[in-house]
Amino acid sequence: MRTLTGLQPSGRVHVGNYFGAMEPAVQLQEEGEAYYFIADYHAMTSTHDPAELRQNVRDMAIDFLACGLDPEKALFFRQSAVPEVNELAWILSTVCPMGLLDRCHSYKDKVAKGIAASHALFAYPVLMAADILLYDSNVVPVGDDQKQHLEVTRDLVIKINGRFGPETLVMPEPRIREGVAKVPGLDGQKMSKSYNNTLPIFGDEKPLRKTVMRIVTDSTPVEEPKATEGSVILDLYRLMASESDHAAMVADYQSGGMGYGDFKKRLWEAYWEYFAPMREKRAALVADPGYVESVLAAGAAKARETAEATLTRVRKAVGLR
Ligand code: ADP
Ligand code: TRP
Repeated sequence: MRTLTGLQPSGRVHVGNYFGAMEPAVQLQEEGEAYYFIADYHAMTSTHDPAELRQNVRDMAIDFLACGLDPEKALFFRQSAVPEVNELAWILSTVCPMGLLDRCHSYKDKVAKGIAASHALFAYPVLMAADILLYDSNVVPVGDDQKQHLEVTRDLVIKINGRFGPETLVMPEPRIREGVAKVPGLDGQKMSKSYNNTLPIFGDEKPLRKTVMRIVTDSTPVEEPKATEGSVILDLYRLMASESDHAAMVADYQSGGMGYGDFKKRLWEAYWEYFAPMREKRAALVADPGYVESVLAAGAAKARETAEATLTRVRKAVGLR
């Protein structure tokens, strides 16, 4: 079984990304053959700043390795290190009806957010399908915002295999991370870069501490019991504290007599300790950029072998060779 997933390099990883995407991805590398790549071609649909793109890709590589991606167990590479993906995207786009892409809401959502309506943004799902199909992926873990792109991918497999032979492409199965609850941000909305309410997992101690202290709370007086339901502090604490510490905080909420400042301090301590090993690993990786590059290069070399085999088969089937 081969699992594959792509990660958009878009700035600093936050607690929502960690629990929603990274931690589940790291767990999956135990289950079978895993391919992880940094979707730098896709990132070009929203940034044309070369320095920013380069920096974001580097940060994403370091952050993911720091969070437990093990290059002994998984392939890790840059999307653009296997440019063959563009050839497969072209072949797929020749059988992709306009209507299929017209129906995709992520295009409309992104344009509504102010991203330029380019051909690449429109064709984004075709490149994503090529990412998946180039490596004969069986399982694709994604957040539920990517569900529709997986449906497009499956439709394209039906079209290609129907026209050029049933063995041309491997049909992938989505694995939607529905069990993963949305991690709340500082203001109680879903934590997201677009809402400016994130708690990053890496950074300097002082500003991060301030960020935790900025979590929005209600105005219940110190001596009164506090509502546990919908409390951002408690929801975040549950992710990072032991069960017994979480239970103790719930009890202190209910008994009253303790202010939100104290709860935030406990959250801060749990957060700082939880990510301590990742921080240490990250510092070591930052100090050794050659290692990070060598991991990505080795991953790309292996991925490319798989890609070549798929493309040879596809080129033959469609009549290019
Ligand atoms: P952002 O919303 O900050 O731009 P992305 O859309 O780049 O984050 O998300 C990257 C990954 O992290 C996706 O797989 C997404 O499902 C996951 N993710 C992002 N925010 C959260 C959250 N608040 N809770 C759970 N998962 C999240
Ligand atoms: N579109 C995905 C996202 O925004 C990233 C991505 C690109 C991807 N190619 C992929 C995910 C292939 C899974 C498989 O999160």
